Amino acid sequence: MIVTTSELFRHAYGKYALGAYNINNLEQTVGLFRGNLGKVKSNDDPTNPAVSAPFIIQISRGARSYSDKRFLEAMIRTAEAVFPDAIFAVHLDHGTEETCYDAIDSGFYSSVMIDASHEPFEKNIEITRRVVDRAHAKGVVVEAELGQLGGVEEDVQGSVCLTDPGQAAEFIEKTGCDSLAVAIGTSHGAYKFTGTQGLRMDRLAEIQKAVPKNFPLVMHGSSSVPKEWVDRINAAGGKIKNASGVPEEQYLPAAKLGICKINIDTDGRLVWCATLREVFRDKPEDFDLRTSGKVFMANYAEYIAHKNKMLGSAGMLESVRALLTGRK
Ligand code: G3H
Ligand code: 13P
Ligand code: ZN
Repeated sequence: MIVTTSELFRHAYGKYALGAYNINNLEQTVGLFRGNLGKVKSNDDPTNPAVSAPFIIQISRGARSYSDKRFLEAMIRTAEAVFPDAIFAVHLDHGTEETCYDAIDSGFYSSVMIDASHEPFEKNIEITRRVVDRAHAKGVVVEAELGQLGGVEEDVQGSVCLTDPGQAAEFIEKTGCDSLAVAIGTSHGAYKFTGTQGLRMDRLAEIQKAVPKNFPLVMHGSSSVPKEWVDRINAAGGKIKNASGVPEEQYLPAAKLGICKINIDTDGRLVWCATLREVFRDKPEDFDLRTSGKVFMANYAEYIAHKNKMLGSAGMLESVRALLTGRK
């Protein structure tokens, strides 16, 4: 069942966060659905309500152009039929104004992100407002962004990059956006922190206090970059040095401060990279792409199930279903 992110956030607010996972291909899609339903080994495993989670599928502009955006839509629609128990939102990740309109008009996406965070404050408001008007007319919800995530070279602790709480309140009021991505010290990719940097929970608490009650906040750049997977990549010939991510133990404290959506892309790429390197290393005579594909789908499903436990979304699927179908 495809729902909007807002419907999922209402259930999660202040208690847990939804995992928002990027997909680019079939194996990621199948692994993602299986992981969210606790079907780690195969599509035919029974759904496990104790670990099943509602979730958000994210599609970036890069993913849309990797093959053709129509493949992604067809895969997700097929996954919905193969896994009828799943409850999820389909979300455009880091959209431009033009991509947002394309996603809204497609009738497939239930949520879009307009990322005009690089623009001056007033221009960001102007662009976001236009997207919100067009999205809401079609029942699509909008995530916007204020503040800028850091790169590894930047001083992400500097107040210039972090979201300003007062501006956040004004931005929400003037744009009518449904959720807001905030910059609180994270960055995209596998090299998030150097030295003593970390998540700015103090800033997040100030933002939560400044914005309307129960307004959903979003955290990008939230992969944990697990040492286990980085070590496995390196042991199988990779060269990933000094990688670091957001400690998973910080997901729930962030959720208690209003973070409802936690974006994870890099971790999935690490699982992919380790799996393929290991299979090629251990079976040098095998050239069947399905060998590594099968191992990846199981590894990814297991990883997603683990991630959902850390986010607090594991085991929430049936109460979300009850809420959405009016049974509670
Ligand atoms: O926020 C960026 C996401 O990780 C998507 O990455 O543009 O390489 O698909 P991508
Ligand atoms: P990571 O690079 O930490 O996985 O962040 C992904 C993200 O924010 C997608 O929008
Ligand atoms: Zn992002």
